[in-house]
Amino acid sequence: MKNRIILLAMASLMFVSCKEQVVVSNTSEETELATYKGKEISLENDTKIDALISQMTLEEKVGMLHGNSMFATGGVERLGIRELKMVDGPLGIREEISRDSWAAAGWDNDFATYYPAAGAVAATWNPELSYTFGNSVGQEARARGKDMLLSPAINIIRTPLGGRTYEYFTEDPFLNKKLAVPFVVGLQENDVMACVKHFAVNNQETNRGTVDVLADERTLREIYLPAFKATVVEAHAHSLMGAYNKFRGDYLCENDYMLNKILRDEWGFRGVVVSDWAAVHSTVKSLKNGLDIEMGTPKPFNEFFLADKLIAAAKNGEISDEEINKHVKRILRVLFQVKAMDGENRVKGSLATEAHYKDAYDIAAESVVLLKNDKNLLPLKLEGVKSIAVIGNNAKKTNALGGFGAGVKTKREVTPLDGLTNRLPEGVKINYAEGYLERYSKNENDKKEEVTLHGPLTVDELDEAKLSEAIEAAKNSDVAIIFAGSNRDYETEASDRRNLFLPFGQEELIKKVLEVNPNTIVVMIAGAPFDLTEIKKEASTLVWSWFNGSEGGHVLADVILGNINPSGKLPWTMPKRIEDSPAHATHSFPGEASVNYTEGILVGYRWFDTKKIEPLYPFGYGLSYTSFEFSELKTNKKEYEVNEVIEVTFNIKNTGDLDGKEVAQLYVSDPESYVEKAAQELKGFKKVFVKSGASTQVTIQLPVKELAYYNEVIKEWLVEPGTYKIKIGNSSRNITEEVSVNIK
Ligand code: BGC
Repeated sequence: MKNRIILLAMASLMFVSCKEQVVVSNTSEETELATYKGKEISLENDTKIDALISQMTLEEKVGMLHGNSMFATGGVERLGIRELKMVDGPLGIREEISRDSWAAAGWDNDFATYYPAAGAVAATWNPELSYTFGNSVGQEARARGKDMLLSPAINIIRTPLGGRTYEYFTEDPFLNKKLAVPFVVGLQENDVMACVKHFAVNNQETNRGTVDVLADERTLREIYLPAFKATVVEAHAHSLMGAYNKFRGDYLCENDYMLNKILRDEWGFRGVVVSDWAAVHSTVKSLKNGLDIEMGTPKPFNEFFLADKLIAAAKNGEISDEEINKHVKRILRVLFQVKAMDGENRVKGSLATEAHYKDAYDIAAESVVLLKNDKNLLPLKLEGVKSIAVIGNNAKKTNALGGFGAGVKTKREVTPLDGLTNRLPEGVKINYAEGYLERYSKNENDKKEEVTLHGPLTVDELDEAKLSEAIEAAKNSDVAIIFAGSNRDYETEASDRRNLFLPFGQEELIKKVLEVNPNTIVVMIAGAPFDLTEIKKEASTLVWSWFNGSEGGHVLADVILGNINPSGKLPWTMPKRIEDSPAHATHSFPGEASVNYTEGILVGYRWFDTKKIEPLYPFGYGLSYTSFEFSELKTNKKEYEVNEVIEVTFNIKNTGDLDGKEVAQLYVSDPESYVEKAAQELKGFKKVFVKSGASTQVTIQLPVKELAYYNEVIKEWLVEPGTYKIKIGNSSRNITEEVSVNIK
């Protein structure tokens, strides 16, 4: 550890003080205690690789640098180099796509497990489950003969309206990295490369192919890069995907600062950078600035920027052999790394097995967030219940496929209605009513359109007949369960949502059902926040679920019936109004040609807490069927040096009648800071199981280095000395204990 202490007599350089601050290092060094660690890409085959490259023609080399089909790059058969085969993506292994178009290849052996979307994984707050996911889906990738999985997608959720919010984990960089790392480690243990995407600051779909993102250096380093860095430095991700957008004027697939300076020089990345599909805009510049592989949409593949044009550039002397060899070498290294070169002892994998469906179930089981349970309707007691109205299009809607972008072709997707049908005893009658129709409109003057966003336009009037059916079902049943929310046709890649409102007239439906049946449980199925202000006021019982994988319907039934005690926590802030969210409050979304992240480091709850804005539901929030009490918070010492680890211990007591899991969340405040800091930041968390009536002692290790902020002037991570508050709670807005420590 080469820490040095520097005296910052640099007031002129934006410092208010000349306090001693401790530099933490901005290199590839880890900043924390790694629980999950990946294998570094080996250099031991370099001699073999150099020998292979020396036998290759220019055309053969260039063939490896671009797609020769939709999801593979060229191999060199005569030298035993196979194609590098890729597959999407975040929800599980995508069905086989034709070699030269987006059409499905029409195979009958590519049915896969549909895993919970990333939002659900994040809501588990359980890194072990992220590891399980990576490992399980890695098996599936191998069973399909793939070398690279285009996953995980780890962009920060900057706005609730982002079309891909459901595909990403969270608004918080710490939670993000703690989930991304185990996913990559688990995946790569199966001889498959992760392709961590989309690098970087790819936080909106509007104008994603052109928009120039402007974010200051501190914001970039503290909010948007930590998870990417952790997947490189700790998990040793073998590849990264360059994003569509620009950053500070340069496209991300030809961005020297991001790809060469930060990724390779600072973080020591040895893997390959793959472009997003059709995200490349130049030949020589892309290659020199750090791109290794160009992928794209169908057109003659030789017309790609890194195809014939590269051969011509090489022949004209615009690019050297050494430069081309460097990229080919990187690709060969990762092919060796995943045993694609010799194939011996390579993981064979398995697809859509019961074990994998169980993995999907286990992840979903910890992701469901209980938002409100005021009348203790949940878990549902079945004594005396003869009939249940199941209302809502979402009771039957499937989400493995849908919208624009990658989904999963699966033989199993248990819908909420299937789940209840399978789990309820025979004596309970289900009265199903669709309630609202999923309808879209082309009317550009639709009433709720307010910005230049292009997400799906919905028809928000209820169909009278469907409404009456739902009311009748609710009236004539002992209990009503409404499955509402959105779906993957509505939340989709390539467009951001127009607003935060619930589509298809659902709010009105829910209110009308609540009027006729007080025993109504509202279950939201969605991937991103919605305006639930009215529903929160009127409904006593509110559950949040996700695009939750093959077993999602069983999980919901088990939560409702009490076979699962909910333990999910929101991985983002649910605002009361979109105007309260930082990117919207600062009028810095979606931008036109460029978007300036003016809220800076105050993303998500950092904004709400610092500006003292009440959210509808805060980051980290989620109830349980039992209750927990935190006590005896202490640290092992009172004073620490920068290289030390603060050991934070406390007790959690389960004070309710049921066993359950709680997520202890550790936030840190730095009230004495001389620079702008968020009111509090998540710096640790632990999910623990506690039996009813029992207590457990929990320890969270907090490396002092985690307290560093990025100083733009000297381009270093600095820990300010002084007093910090360490707070423990079960949501960002329910802090129950606090202690102070001093950093020397
Ligand atoms: C998406 C990527 C995806 C790729 C290939 C792009 O549109 O942004 O996430 O991996 O398509 O399907």
